[in-house]
Amino acid sequence: MNQGAQLSDEEFELIRSLVYQRFGIKLGDHKRSLVIGRLQKVLLSGGFRSFKEYYDHVVQDSTGRALLTLVDRISTNHTYFFREREHFDFLKTVVLPEVTARIKGGQRQDLRFWCAGCASGEEPYSVAMVISDFFGDNLSGMDVGILATDISVSALEKAVTGVYPVEQLAGVPPLYRQRYFDPLGKGNWAVREELKRMVLFRRLNLMRSEYPFKGRFQVIFCRNVMIYFDNPTKQALVERLYRYTEPGGYLFIGHSETLDQASGLYRYVRPAVYRKV
Ligand SMILES: C[S@@+](CC[C@H](N)C(=O)[O-])C[C@H]1O[C@@H](n2cnc3c(N)ncnc32)[C@H](O)[C@@H]1O
Repeated sequence: MNQGAQLSDEEFELIRSLVYQRFGIKLGDHKRSLVIGRLQKVLLSGGFRSFKEYYDHVVQDSTGRALLTLVDRISTNHTYFFREREHFDFLKTVVLPEVTARIKGGQRQDLRFWCAGCASGEEPYSVAMVISDFFGDNLSGMDVGILATDISVSALEKAVTGVYPVEQLAGVPPLYRQRYFDPLGKGNWAVREELKRMVLFRRLNLMRSEYPFKGRFQVIFCRNVMIYFDNPTKQALVERLYRYTEPGGYLFIGHSETLDQASGLYRYVRPAVYRKV
């Protein structure tokens, strides 16, 4: 039965505290209908008669797969190419010239960027296009790596495939579409291999206390991810991101987000851009 299973207050409380503890995602009271809407299908396909039965299954599943499905359904993966275009202009006009100067000055040989909370890949591919365009023919001689991570398996699968319907390419400048995509037919476009090779997709829960990275990044994008977190969670995450930013490196956040300056970590550069000094 559970077409229309009811979600009691206790069940909502159980589910939201699980999602908060494991993923830092805060589900306010107004998210109740989102929880019902997004989990209803999972209940139905798994044959669960109530949200409590489903919850018990998630916490008892030692493989962790049920928990992944849960966060996959709950998290919002909305994104698009060249979202918040100002960031890409800043990347091109300020950050990449600076990084190049450091490489030429021998301070660093490689280029390491991280998109934390990359959803279905539009953000890291946009970064890759800007980098590729900036370096042009010189790119082949450079060591460039864009790490792109997310908690959502289904979003990452889409990202790795790199195939997008034409409507999703609306933000891609025509020249970039021509250079970096191939038409697949049926209104789908595929990201070209040379661009895909620049991006490494991995699953990573940003709530981990340590991240498995050896080096630090010159640029971290963590945009429109912290909006789902409460202040203590956000603050702790920013401290972790700071550890993985190289001195002089940048943190880009969403334009609707703010960083608490009281911590004295990153310095404000311009809207939604911060720097580790
Ligand atoms: C709205 S999307 C933002 C995508 C992209 N950064 C942008 O600005 O367009 C937020 C992403 O954060 C991811 N996310 C949420 N909580 C996370 C966590 N604890 N660890 C890793 N990723 C998380 C979600 O799965 C989702 O794909």
